[in-house]
Amino acid sequence: MTLLSVEGLTIDLPGTQPGLVEDVTFEVNEGRCTALIGESGCGKSLTSLAVLGLLPPSVRVSAGAVVFDGVDLLTCSPRQLRKIRGGPVGMVFQEPMSSLNPSMTVGDQIAEARRLHLGEGRKVALARAKDLLDRVGIPNAARRLAAYPHEMSGGMQQRVMIAAAIACDPRLIIADEPTTALDVTIQAEILSLLRDLQRDLGLAVLLVTHDLGVVADFCDDVVVMYAGHIAERTGVDDLFYRPAHPYSAALLAAVPQAGQSRSRLTVIPGRVPTAGAFPPGCRFGPRCAHFTAPECARPQPHGRTRCGRVASGDLVLEGALHG
Ligand SMILES: Nc1ncnc2c1ncn2[C@@H]1O[C@H](COP(=O)(O)OP(=O)(O)OP(=O)(O)O)[C@@H](O)[C@H]1O
Ligand SMILES: [Mg+2]
Repeated sequence: MTLLSVEGLTIDLPGTQPGLVEDVTFEVNEGRCTALIGESGCGKSLTSLAVLGLLPPSVRVSAGAVVFDGVDLLTCSPRQLRKIRGGPVGMVFQEPMSSLNPSMTVGDQIAEARRLHLGEGRKVALARAKDLLDRVGIPNAARRLAAYPHEMSGGMQQRVMIAAAIACDPRLIIADEPTTALDVTIQAEILSLLRDLQRDLGLAVLLVTHDLGVVADFCDDVVVMYAGHIAERTGVDDLFYRPAHPYSAALLAAVPQAGQSRSRLTVIPGRVPTAGAFPPGCRFGPRCAHFTAPECARPQPHGRTRCGRVASGDLVLEGALHG
């Protein structure tokens, strides 16, 4: 069952770049994890912020719909959105301190969410906050209720943010690079916590990540973005075994694998074009090893891929895994 459906989402940077994010369409299904991947600057954060109604004022949505549980969030009032955020839709960002309130104890922050969204009294809400800190693996939860965010390590702060995200029994969690700011061992712990919560609570997750290992371990579906477009959307196995866009194949080829010699590791030449400088035709064209004119002049989504050459069977790509 579809829980979140993003339909033709288009975000403009007025005066500079129409289609900063263009015609982005994908779904997040109930109880499943969808990864949003792509290099830096491809529009992953703008897309997830648009879903939450949290876009910066300098950009604007010019087309599309974001339907969550039957309601188009793009037509909701700020008040309705505040009810949804932190309620049925939880958020986890890269920098915990950007969303935690530095002047409030972690117990009060989590309890306040329950009071606001679920109408609980302070005592009940605080007891629940303690259970939530326990659930996300914070030792001495009862004592930690009275701690301020700055008294905790980055990993612990991220656990608090996850506790806040799940505090009001959400159905969907949107996590934008939730572990990038943490060191590697803590990253793995936070991801396995997220995965356990997802399974135990039956959550749907939209996970923005750079890490294809995380995609393989954690996600069911993948949306690959390039320069504001969706290059490909597909199931995880298909991505690794049978990528359907040259950009996806290039991302996979750039990931080191055990036993692979360094010389086989390919980098993608060039860079993601910046806003205002998108090339005509396929936006990946100038970096694509398979670019041919005129086939690549007017790419359109065909099923799972935006690459017309792959869609027509003219081009078959190699996966990172075989079988
Ligand atoms: N407030 C803004 N004003 C103008 N341009 C913006 C703004 N926010 C993002 N952009 C531009 O939109 C494009 C997409 O940005 P976005 O932050 O969504 O990328 P991203 O895929 O999340 O990258 P990263 O992996 O680095 O987080 C980039 O070209 C960026 O420069
Ligand atoms: Mg981002």
